[in-house]
Amino acid sequence: MLGAQAYQFNHALTRSPAKSVIDGLRAGDGPNPVFSHFQSQHQAYQKALEDAGLTVNCLAADEDFPDSVFVEDPALCIGGSVILLSPGAPSRYGEAGRLAAHGQRYFDTLIDLRPRLAAGGRIDGGDILLTGREALIGLSARTNQAGFDALAAVLQDFSIIARPLETPADILHFKSDCGLLDAETIFCTERLAKSDCFKGYRVITAPAGDEPAANLIRVNDWVLLAHGHPRSAEILDYHGYQVKLLDISEAAKIDGGLSCMSLRYHRQ
Ligand code: GLY
Repeated sequence: MLGAQAYQFNHALTRSPAKSVIDGLRAGDGPNPVFSHFQSQHQAYQKALEDAGLTVNCLAADEDFPDSVFVEDPALCIGGSVILLSPGAPSRYGEAGRLAAHGQRYFDTLIDLRPRLAAGGRIDGGDILLTGREALIGLSARTNQAGFDALAAVLQDFSIIARPLETPADILHFKSDCGLLDAETIFCTERLAKSDCFKGYRVITAPAGDEPAANLIRVNDWVLLAHGHPRSAEILDYHGYQVKLLDISEAAKIDGGLSCMSLRYHRQ
């Protein structure tokens, strides 16, 4: 049971965008991100985490992995522990290994899921939503049953129950369409709300057209929300959340969002 620990952090780990980020994976054939804009948006993102009270450590850019700025996909943090995952896209297979080198320095404990996976097991951090009471894990093109099974076994050691869900078709990651607002409240798209996967939670839905806003992150007293969705910002304000808007247009060009650009955690 995580309770408020699901959104209370004192550290974050990020990775600078590499110049190769222009080759980042994307579902469509949209334009490449502009590297210099990506860099400045990434810096503003880190500043927002610092303003929310976190110590932010930023790893050097890794040109070998165009998507490595999305540092949340190869790992999951629980308290001060990091669990190395097994990203589901072939071009990202090596990213967990690159993070392993930093584990001892930045985290209290490092657990490597990869040797515990059945053959072909894959799981992306973008498919894992930790709530106050459980881990919701969306099966997707990046996360399969073997990946879920291996992580669920490890999470038992943290007394966290994992629940498998279906990520709706055409959505990259489960968290592309949802974010945690507090231990019992989730902000999500209509299409995800309709799937009933958040039964028992308080659910606030993003207005139609605001789907990219669903990938928000709660960090201590702040909710970080993608810029350009004023109706979502108004709804969150109405419900009493303190919102900070961030322009992440360059990450969005390669299907990245707010959650995937940092690992947020709590060290004693
Ligand atoms: N470009 C983000 C991802 O596909 O993993």
